[in-house]
Amino acid sequence: MDEVYETFFANELKRIEKNQQTRVLRTFHGPNKAYANIEGKESLLFSSNHYLGLGTDKDVQKGAIDAIEQYGAGSGGSRLTTGNSLLHQQLEEAIAKFKGTENALLFSSGFLANVGVISSIMGKGDIIFSDEYNHASIIDGCRLSKARTVIYKHCDLQSLETALQTEKTDGKKLIVTDGVFSMDGDVAPLREIQLIARKYGALLMVDDAHGTGVIGNHGKGSANYFGVENIDITVGTLSKAIGAEGGFVAGSNLLIHYLKNRARTFIFQTSLSPGVVGAALAAIQKIESTPQIVEKLQWNSAYMRRRLREEGFHVLEGVTAIIPLIIGKAEEALQFSKLLEEEGVFAPAIRPPTVPEGTSRIRITVMATHTKEQIEQVVQIFVQAAKKMKLYRTIPR
Ligand SMILES: Cc1ncc(COP(=O)(O)O)c(C=O)c1O
Repeated sequence: MDEVYETFFANELKRIEKNQQTRVLRTFHGPNKAYANIEGKESLLFSSNHYLGLGTDKDVQKGAIDAIEQYGAGSGGSRLTTGNSLLHQQLEEAIAKFKGTENALLFSSGFLANVGVISSIMGKGDIIFSDEYNHASIIDGCRLSKARTVIYKHCDLQSLETALQTEKTDGKKLIVTDGVFSMDGDVAPLREIQLIARKYGALLMVDDAHGTGVIGNHGKGSANYFGVENIDITVGTLSKAIGAEGGFVAGSNLLIHYLKNRARTFIFQTSLSPGVVGAALAAIQKIESTPQIVEKLQWNSAYMRRRLREEGFHVLEGVTAIIPLIIGKAEEALQFSKLLEEEGVFAPAIRPPTVPEGTSRIRITVMATHTKEQIEQVVQIFVQAAKKMKLYRTIPR
């Protein structure tokens, strides 16, 4: 490699290191379970997105194995060529039924669903109104679309409405928000946002990656949680509560037909492999047939929040499985996480640029498979770590 580029990489990495933002991979020697083997050590896992524990559910695993036996390891092509199987269609039907929409469309990931949807619908002359804490894939979709993006304050209806009043266009308008915010675990006020979208003639897109399988009746997601219907575009992922992999869009027949013809991340990509499709299908069936799993997750989340608050931590009221403990500086959050790990709890520090400067945190996530005793044990370890760092009270959000 030319020396110029070596210098570039080395300097950039030095800058990242100086800001305490270097990222390194941690290696799991087994699945994401309540107790997980991380680099040879059994740790209590309180940071996985497998909220329902379905990745290790026997029926879900059987769904994957059966699918591989019937359809093979890979899908063989894009959906529009040779990669469309009966299984893909069954999963789309199951997602549409679960989300209460006319239709659904699979993507290879939630990231690619967001990028594909936004960039295929919005373009030059259009305006996107995007919550400041939206996921990176929404941000990248906005950038790729070439539409003007107006950022409104996090979950702030006044800020959103003012933006819609002041930013004028003859083109299309899209309001896009996470349903459940991935780093804060709060839920967007979808009823009010939908009213604003209708008032100003904007499309509404909700990314429900962390709401699906978690909140609402039977885990049907954020819109269901508020009793809101007819969200124009719902994006979701199969990689979190569903315990498999892949993304989806749920909406009208017209929208789905359009995306099949316009979304480049759908058209030009090999379709999901049968194993993950079979697993996701079995997982959705499991959620529908065993509502106790979602109820257990909701109970565990509430219990964890209550216990942390009782111990003096600043934890916002909430209903999701994501509980942020805001520490502040990146190095403090790293140290906190290290102390947790020494005591057998795996909950990594989340730092800028993933979260705003000064709000580095431990992003605790709860799973349905955690026991009450494990939650209690972890809360005590948090208390000890906070005492050691004299951070007994974390920062209010
Ligand atoms: C809010 C949100 N949207 C989209 C994604 C991307 O989903 P996937 O992991 O399926 O690409 C994530 C996951 O990191 C997320 O948190």
